Amino acid sequence: MSNGQGSDKPAQPAATATIKPTDLRGILKYVPRFQDQIFVLALDGSIVADENFSNLLVDIAVLRSLGIRVVLVHGIGQQLDELSELRNIPITNSDGAGVTDAATLDLAIRASARVSHLILEGLTQNSLKCAITNAVRALPVGILKGVDQQHTGKVDRVDKEFLLHLIGADILPILQPIGYGPDGRSLRVNSDLLAAEVAEALAASKIIFLTPAAGLEIDGEIRRDISVDALRALLKDAPASLADNVRSKALHAVRAIETGVPRVHLVDGRVFDGLLNEIFSNDGIGSLIYANDYQQIRKATKRDVRFLHQLTRSAVKREELIHRTQQAIEKNIDQFYVFEIDENIIACVTLYFYPDKPQLAEIGSLYVMPVFQGRGIGRKMVEFASMMAKERGASTVVALSTQSYAFFTSKLGYEEADKSMLPEARLKLYEESGRNPKVLVKQL
Ligand SMILES: CC(C)(COP(=O)(O)OP(=O)(O)OC[C@H]1O[C@@H](n2cnc3c(N)ncnc32)[C@H](O)[C@@H]1OP(=O)(O)O)[C@@H](O)C(=O)NCCC(=O)NCCS
Repeated sequence: MSNGQGSDKPAQPAATATIKPTDLRGILKYVPRFQDQIFVLALDGSIVADENFSNLLVDIAVLRSLGIRVVLVHGIGQQLDELSELRNIPITNSDGAGVTDAATLDLAIRASARVSHLILEGLTQNSLKCAITNAVRALPVGILKGVDQQHTGKVDRVDKEFLLHLIGADILPILQPIGYGPDGRSLRVNSDLLAAEVAEALAASKIIFLTPAAGLEIDGEIRRDISVDALRALLKDAPASLADNVRSKALHAVRAIETGVPRVHLVDGRVFDGLLNEIFSNDGIGSLIYANDYQQIRKATKRDVRFLHQLTRSAVKREELIHRTQQAIEKNIDQFYVFEIDENIIACVTLYFYPDKPQLAEIGSLYVMPVFQGRGIGRKMVEFASMMAKERGASTVVALSTQSYAFFTSKLGYEEADKSMLPEARLKLYEESGRNPKVLVKQL
């Protein structure tokens, strides 16, 4: 794949080695969807220092070449700690979220210059034009609970016109975690906060935090997707359940979504091809935090298996749903979403991606408990699954139904299609089941 400027300079082999023509086809389907959208990439200082950083820059060049407009925000935590140790100067904090005394500010400015410079160098190697800006106006945080925060700043205004002007001229803006106060003096700003503010000002469609963590770790497990409402509730009621290294990201993700940024991703910036996989594959590798109107829908967990089995049993008896053993549900629990009322599961749906046809996703096992039917829950479940399918790269959804096909066609705009449109492996299962369901499709 060429670099962002379309030059004939060979791209770094490491980044191209794994891209096959099928991957390329998969990626190209996103081009019209993401073209001209703004993605804010927020890099922790430690990611800039990581050996994968050069690969990450190639990935950024790929995004640019696909017409995605990128803004880079960076942190300096690791470099600030290192400088403090090297010079034997104690710092008041390394993430810009506490007090910044004069010595810490001085080191923060030096660390910022160093990190920005590394980014400049790397982008230059990838033939991308970029500029370090003074687009962030800040105000001193002031005195909090009696403690003067000194040189710590909060974002007052992001110069949107300036940044859009650069982006429009194909120049990638680099934003340091330093803002400029009313008197032009520097103030240290937390980079997660900065990413959220910049994304809001530019009406970005995504923030992607590139951080040294496998994703959003909650109670020791990585959550692949979570709604903003669920995350907000966690931050309020059980903040300790979130791993320390992602709490600030989670907080600012919620904040960004509340101000209109639809999606925030957390991606391990140390993983080769991680950024591209997160954006261009069905599964992603990190965590997605999304805004939604579907507060009551969540991903099922292993704890729900027994209940899901019981829930769908009567529909299986009536042949409305295909029989699945408890073990089969457990094995495929990642495909299930459930709808809860007062913490009771009253509906479910599955979403499945065909490995050999990633642009097609299957919606299945749709079931709403009879007493709750007719309240729009079935529709919501299908709409939600479609939204997730689209988010993960599908362009078409298919549902196979024996008795509720009219629900899909008359209520949800699905059309009947020939079974031959199913991937081979799925068609085989279809034939073997003997149920002869109608094949219903919808373009997303
Ligand atoms: C099909 C099902 C999921 C619908 O859920 P729901 O929550 O009742 O649906 P909604 O409230 O969103 O929509 C209700 C509307 O769909 C219509 N509808 C419901 N089931 C229907 C069906 N089988 N055929 C045609 N229309 C149907 C209702 O008449 C209602 O119409 P209205 O809005 O004009 O009043 C639910 O009836 C169910 O769980 N059925 C048993 C399992 C099943 O068949 N699943 C489908 C497997 S693919």
